[in-house]
Amino acid sequence: MEYMDLVRKAAGYITSKIEKVPDTAVVLGSGLGLFAGLLQDKCEIPYQEIPGFPVSTAPGHAGKLIYGKIGEKCVLCMSGRFHFYEGYSMKDVSFYVRAFKVLGIKNLIITNATGGITGCFNPGDLMIITDHIKFFDDSPLRGENVSELGPRFNDMSEAYNKELIAKAKSVAEKQGIDIKEGVYAFMPGPSYETPAEIRALGILGADAVGMSSVPEVITAAHCGLKVLGISCITNYAAGISKNKLTEEEVIETANKSGEKFSALMAGIITEI
Ligand code: HPA
Repeated sequence: MEYMDLVRKAAGYITSKIEKVPDTAVVLGSGLGLFAGLLQDKCEIPYQEIPGFPVSTAPGHAGKLIYGKIGEKCVLCMSGRFHFYEGYSMKDVSFYVRAFKVLGIKNLIITNATGGITGCFNPGDLMIITDHIKFFDDSPLRGENVSELGPRFNDMSEAYNKELIAKAKSVAEKQGIDIKEGVYAFMPGPSYETPAEIRALGILGADAVGMSSVPEVITAAHCGLKVLGISCITNYAAGISKNKLTEEEVIETANKSGEKFSALMAGIITEI
C-alpha cells in the first residue's frame, strides 16, 4: 500500500471511533500517563488496531490512543509513543503525526522525560521546549518528499509555536508553577549519555537531553501542525548527577510530577 494511503487509512480508522475531531492532540512522555486519568467520556483505541501504527515496547508506555474530554474540549491523547532506540525509523516513530494532520488536528502537545543539563534545573521541574538540537543522521523526512503535506526543504525556524509557548507560560503562572524554558537536545539512546557528551551538549547550547520527540516535531513542522513541547526534568544529566542513571529514577520522578504536569496540561488544553 502507498505510504499516504496507509496514513489516510489510520486517520479514517481513528475518525470512525471518535465523536468529534479535536483541535489538539497530546503525546504523553515516560511516566506522565496520569494526565489520561483526567479525561472524561473516554474511548480507548489500542495501537494494534490502528493501521500503520507500530506497537510501543518502551517501559512506562501504555500503547493506546485515548479520546476524551477536558471540560468542554475534546482531545486525543497518545498514551505511549514510539522511539528510535526501539529500532523503528524516524519516519515510523512519527507516522502518527501525519495521521493526526490528515485527521484534522491543529495543535500537537508533545511531552517527554529529560535529563537536566543547565545548572538551575532540578528533577521535578517542568520545561517548555523553545527549540531543539538534533545531529543524528536519520530524519523522518528522509527519502521521497510527501509533497501533499509539505515542501522538500521545510523551515524549522519556529518549530515550537510562539503563541502556544506564551499560552503555556500564562497558564503555568496562574497555577503558580515555576516553569523553565530551554533547548532540548535529541540523543538516539538507548544508552544514557556519557558525562563528556553532556558537557559537549551544554557547550553547544542544550539545556536538557532526551531520546524522543524531535522526529515528531520535525514531521509536525513539515506538515504545518503547531507544536508545544513540555519536558519533565526527571534527573540531572550524566556527570552532573553523582548517581548512576536508571530508568526507575526517570519514571519515579516523572510520576511524582504527575499532578503538577496534569494540571498544567488540562489548563493549557482548556485555553487553546
Ligand atoms: N538522557 C536521555 N534521555 C533521558 C534522560 C537523560 O538523562 N532522562 C530522561 N530521558
